[in-house]
Amino acid sequence: PDKKLWGGRFAEATDGLVELFNASVGFDQRLAEQDIRGSLAHVAMLGQVGILNAEEVVQISGGLQDVLADIRAGTFEWRLDREDVHMNVEAALRERIGPVAGKLHTARSRNDQVAVDFRLFTKEAALDLADRTRALRAVMLAEAEKHLQAEVILPGYTHLQVAQPILLSHWFMAYVAMLERDEGRFRDAAQRMDESPLGSSALAGTPWPIDRHATAQALGFARPTANSLDGVGSRDFALEFLSACAILSAHLSRLSEELILYSTFEFGFLTLPDSHTTGSSIMPQKKNPDVSELARAKTGRVFGNLMGLLTVVKGTPLAYNKDLQEDKEGVFDSYDTLSIVLRLYTDMLPRTQWHAEVTRAAAERGYSTATDVADFLARAGVPFREAHEVVGGLVGLASRSGRQLWGLTDAELRAAHPLLSAEVAHALTVQESVRGRRSFGGTAPEQVRDAIDAARRSLN
Ligand code: ARG
Repeated sequence: PDKKLWGGRFAEATDGLVELFNASVGFDQRLAEQDIRGSLAHVAMLGQVGILNAEEVVQISGGLQDVLADIRAGTFEWRLDREDVHMNVEAALRERIGPVAGKLHTARSRNDQVAVDFRLFTKEAALDLADRTRALRAVMLAEAEKHLQAEVILPGYTHLQVAQPILLSHWFMAYVAMLERDEGRFRDAAQRMDESPLGSSALAGTPWPIDRHATAQALGFARPTANSLDGVGSRDFALEFLSACAILSAHLSRLSEELILYSTFEFGFLTLPDSHTTGSSIMPQKKNPDVSELARAKTGRVFGNLMGLLTVVKGTPLAYNKDLQEDKEGVFDSYDTLSIVLRLYTDMLPRTQWHAEVTRAAAERGYSTATDVADFLARAGVPFREAHEVVGGLVGLASRSGRQLWGLTDAELRAAHPLLSAEVAHALTVQESVRGRRSFGGTAPEQVRDAIDAARRSLN
């Protein structure tokens, strides 16, 4: 091991276990691109303001480019004794260009260095997940459109008990709405984190005549952070990213649960594509929804990453504390997890086959048009509460004798209420029920058409 970059005051070598425990290079090497981008902007600025001369700027920048090339080529040697990505890069730079490398860290601290690297990473991750969320949304919107013409009917549930028939397209559009907000959350977070902490230095700023606006601009940030303690000590940008991830993950988990349930033999609403399901090594008939199960399960770690960082941050006094080194892995993990789940669903949903006869038959069972019968009576002037009671009685009668509402006899219907007849019960098909729900945002085909058109406009 070489002498520590911070080793000036130390007489004894670092304990081996401490070195292992302290090191972050195992995971923060993922920030190498951002780290070198940050250093290049810093060096260029040091040249502009006259802290470094032109020769030094050329030497250091060239060296950094060479180090970056090694990293990209996979020939860079990451060393645990060099602790983290920042000191690995700087030590490698010194090996290449000699002592002038030591001037790179003028007017800078690892505290603002890591803060700027991590913001660059998280901002890119947020925008990438926003794009991927958008891609899934486009796919679900296309599915909604595909099934609208045929008015494919799905049982709508509350409490997982059949409630009222809906259009399958309406179901898809519910997820389109959720995904639109999810994308918005990522973009909002990216916008709010669009500030450069570089130049906050260790915590209090620096006596050097640096130009923070120049480095912020060079790195593509909207502006520098306004307070140096906040710049190096805050991680709410990562918390926001993790929150947006957690909410998106909750939505994808609900979708997963529905797909798992609807693909069972007992429901039989849909068939998942062979490409996205797996078999059993003992039971030859099996086709398991592993992708959806894992998507549902991985929500646990995505939630955990948010809770983990909230907990890390809550006990840290201002400004930087080594605790904050624990901010990265959760962000990497939530990002990687969601980026693969979003891709999987974007590929899988268009290949999923829906069985319109089955979903329709399921919607017809379970007295799903009972509300429509009650509404029929209410429209004829019967107070809704009374109508509810009458129809409830009919559902009870039908269910005790294993029949549907349209299986009740004329006499039974008239006995329940003089306005009712077999004719009425027959008119209350699931299709009529769906077509009748024309309130804004409802499941009637023309409402869903409007929702699709609006979603299409907002997507373009
Ligand atoms: N590896 C550290 C982290 O990720 C870099 C900052 C270290 N700063 C310090 N003063 N020890 O947080």
